[in-house]
Amino acid sequence: MKPSITANEQDFLSTLKVLYVEDEQEVREAMTHFLSRRFARLDVAANGQEGLALFNSHPYDLVITDIKMPVMDGLEMAANIKTRSLDTPIIVVTAYNETDYFLRAIELGIDRYVKKPLDPNELVEAIQKSTQSHRHRKELEDANKNLLNVYQTAIGALARAIEIRDPYTNGHQKRVSQIAEAIALEMGLPASQITGIRLGAMIHDIGKISVPIDYLTMPRKLTNLEYALVKTHPQSGADILVGVEFPWPIAEMVLQHHERMDGSGYPRGLKKEEILLEARIIAVADVVDAMSSSRPYRAALGIYMAAVEIRENSGTLYDPSVVECCLKLIERGESGPLACLPCFQHPLAEGD
Ligand SMILES: [Fe+2]
Repeated sequence: MKPSITANEQDFLSTLKVLYVEDEQEVREAMTHFLSRRFARLDVAANGQEGLALFNSHPYDLVITDIKMPVMDGLEMAANIKTRSLDTPIIVVTAYNETDYFLRAIELGIDRYVKKPLDPNELVEAIQKSTQSHRHRKELEDANKNLLNVYQTAIGALARAIEIRDPYTNGHQKRVSQIAEAIALEMGLPASQITGIRLGAMIHDIGKISVPIDYLTMPRKLTNLEYALVKTHPQSGADILVGVEFPWPIAEMVLQHHERMDGSGYPRGLKKEEILLEARIIAVADVVDAMSSSRPYRAALGIYMAAVEIRENSGTLYDPSVVECCLKLIERGESGPLACLPCFQHPLAEGD
């Protein structure tokens, strides 16, 4: 009877890298011939020790092994593999059906048993079943990647809308996004949270679309009235994003990026942990880039003046843990978003 494998499942099997371990030469050669046509790659070993050496030098999606072999048996090899890679499915092929082997195999988390003499169809079915969860995980990863692309494209489109109107804000948002991402990485945040910070920062000033362009390009300081209007941009940005369901709190990042630790920020005067961590990071990246870059009404102050600003106001305006990581990046002077910003004076080098 043929195994019930769909074309999709067969396609999936043909992407796998598989390790096959068998000491009996005749069986090994016959099975190698049978299996090598089904997978992207098939490596073969004659005992557990050889198999383990191969496993340690290549990533495999599946291991198929005999149990009783010289030098190192299949279960000892499987135990080693499971300590390194619990998720790798292992199929045991054996003529030995003693209870001890079964119990030991169950303890080790062996995925499937196939008895000798081997029925190739039975083996293919075991392979399909034991790689099913791997396949589902991969499908889920692909779906998540596609979804992330959709979010990135949508956010990129919003950022471009700003660019058309105001090239300065767009360049600023891109740099803030890179700086915020570098800080978040330095802080050791989870990958998904870092992605959210990068995307939120890319459109943190999206609300400036509702501010008259003259106010954004004015070659002088704004009047109180003009500045009051500019200060509405976090709320306008959050209003634009309301109802868009991102897997990250993007609208809140936009709304809170001018909040300050002591409550002196806007629009809501939030304090300390009332402010999202993501917004606290974007706030520091925002100030560093704004001070380092030239504005219509003043020349650039440079990265080191920005460093002085965040260090002097660490804890009052800015989150100390965010400032600490940002200063580390500046002090290291690594190539990256911060290294691209203009530097005129290096007060950190003067030991203060
Ligand atoms: Fe802003």
